[in-house]
Parts: sequence; C-alpha cells; structure tokens
Amino acid sequence: MIKTLEWTDAGVRLIDQTKLPTEELYVTCKNYEEIADAIRTMIVRGAPAIGVAAAMGVALGAKQSPAKTLPEFEREFDTICNVLASTRPTAVNLFWAIRRMRVKFNSLRARPIEEIKEELVAEAQRMHVEDIAANKAMGRHGAALLPERGGVLTHCNAGALATAGYGTALGVIRAAVASGKQLNVFADETRPFLQGSRLTAWELMKDGIPTTLIADNMAGAMMRLGKIDAVIVGADRIAANGDVANKIGTYSVAVLAKEHRIPFYVAAPISTVDLKTGDGSGIPIEQRAASEVTHLAGRQIAPDEVNVENPAFDVTPNRYVSAIITELGVARAPYEESLAKLVNSRAQSS
Ligand code: MRU
Repeated sequence: MIKTLEWTDAGVRLIDQTKLPTEELYVTCKNYEEIADAIRTMIVRGAPAIGVAAAMGVALGAKQSPAKTLPEFEREFDTICNVLASTRPTAVNLFWAIRRMRVKFNSLRARPIEEIKEELVAEAQRMHVEDIAANKAMGRHGAALLPERGGVLTHCNAGALATAGYGTALGVIRAAVASGKQLNVFADETRPFLQGSRLTAWELMKDGIPTTLIADNMAGAMMRLGKIDAVIVGADRIAANGDVANKIGTYSVAVLAKEHRIPFYVAAPISTVDLKTGDGSGIPIEQRAASEVTHLAGRQIAPDEVNVENPAFDVTPNRYVSAIITELGVARAPYEESLAKLVNSRAQSS
C-alpha cells in the first residue's frame, strides 16, 4: 500500500503529492510548522490525510516543546493547534483531528509533561491506524453498491493518497474489484489542480485497476454514451442534512448523474460528517490562488490580469446523493435521520 504519511524518528514523512505522477519523492517534516506548510501547499491533501497529518503535527510540536511547566506547555500546545487549524478551511477532518488531540491533552493534565508527550504521539499514531481501518470498513459496506461490471466515474482523488491508506471512494472501488467485480474507473482530470490525472490515475494504475482518464468536460458525454454505471466520490465535509462539500466540479457530476439516472455515491468516514453544520450553506469554501487557473504546469495559459474565480470545493445538495457510505454503514435519505443515527451509534459504543 502507498505510504501517504508516516510517523518516523526523523519526523513526519510524506509522499510529495505535488511531484506525482512523474516523481515519487518523500519529504520529512521536522517540526509542526513544516507540517502546516505541507498541508497549505498540498504536499499532503485529501480530507482524512489532512486530519492525520495535523494530528501528527500536534504530536510533533508537543514532543519538541521545551516547556517545563504545564501552563507553559499548554500555551505552546494552543499555538501549535491554532497554526495547524489555519491551514485549510473546508475539510472538517482537520478540525476534528485537532479537537481530538485537545481532548486527549485535557485528559492527561495531571500527568508529567514527558508522559503527556508520549500519549499524544500514541494518539496521532492511533488515528493513522484507525483511518485505514475505517477505509477498509467503507470498502466492505460500499462494494455491494457498485455494479458487477461496468464503468465507475470518480472525481478528484479520494484514494490512498487522500487518506492514511486504502482510500474512501477508491477504497470502495478497491474492495469491489477485490470481490471480483469487473470495473473500469473513469477518472476526471479535476481542473485546476489535476488530482484526478496526477493522483487517481497514478494510484489506480499502480494497483492494476483498469483506468480511463477523461477531461472534466467529458463526463456528460461518457454518461450519455452509456459508459458510466455509477459515480463515487469522497467528501471534505458533510452537513447534517447530507449536503456534501467536495472538490470543485463534484456538483456538476452529480447533476449529470441524476439526469442520466446513474447512482451518485459518496464515501467518507464519520469524521467528515459535521452535525454542527445544518446544511451546505454553512460550509466554508476555500478560495485558492488565481495562478492555479491561469497557469498549467508553470506555463501561463490566460491573459495577464484576467479576473479569476478559484473556489476549491463546491456543495452538492443532498437530493443528488443516492447514498453516503461510512465505516459504520450506509446512510440514505432522509440524511438528517440516517447520519445522526450513525454518528450517535459511534458515540454510544465509545
Ligand atoms: O483540495 P484537495 O485535494 O485536498 O481536495 C480533496 C478532495 O476534495 C477529496 O475528494 C476529499 O478530500 C475526499 S478524500 C478521501
């Protein structure tokens, strides 16, 4: 399995996703500021991977703290959490992970500082392991929803690279293929950052899963030609009512899928479900640099000074979503009820 991120003695090792697919390079972040930079610059990206990277960042920052007293240590811990929380706004897994580290810290206040540090490192490592397990469980729940054979369209990269390993949407595809289903995955290239062509195509081909790359504006034509039997994507944040924020372009795919009566599935861990946000209008959408749109691989492809919009995510209203696949089971409309039920089942069992 691709090692997207890894805790090592030298620091947090990340596969540099900005260099794929032409170079498979790894960077080791030696302090929490370097991890924050890696999240901001998308060396590591994808909601669950951002969450685990941030948890490791909190653990690394705490581990390296020279603080001698609890109040000093706590002040520093706060700064570390705030720096990491300011990196990207949309993926709720980032805030979920930092909150979990804060809760852990608070439960350890009575312990010596060295012990608190060790426990924080262990907690971040646990989150890494749990994320992979959650993806495998999503695979088990979701594989049955995909057809026995046919085309499955995905958008952006919701694979091993976007998580601690195995993937959410691509995890479901992996599980379906492992169960004997004959699928051809259509990967949208995903303008402007090209996660589909650079990352999804690379990781699926590495696994030997049949993959066809298309430009984003070809999805409708492929559906009309009968080449797509299901759509499956990941999510950066799912509101309580089932509205889904995911990579820009997901909404267009969902609308096209409904027009062509093709099921549109979302695979995401429970940590992506944000019950505190009632509907999609409350989800903050990251705006990224204009240069991502005006330039391609460093080359200018638009006139100087042109006005640009570059929202990194869009919101797909719940009425387009056929089902949401989580590690705890599959939620269907009405999502207010089904999602709350799944989240509460987790709360009761922990
Ligand atoms: O901007 P990115 O590359 O971090 O956006 C990633 C996505 O939108 C993914 O589809 C989403 O995080 C799900 S990842 C399992």
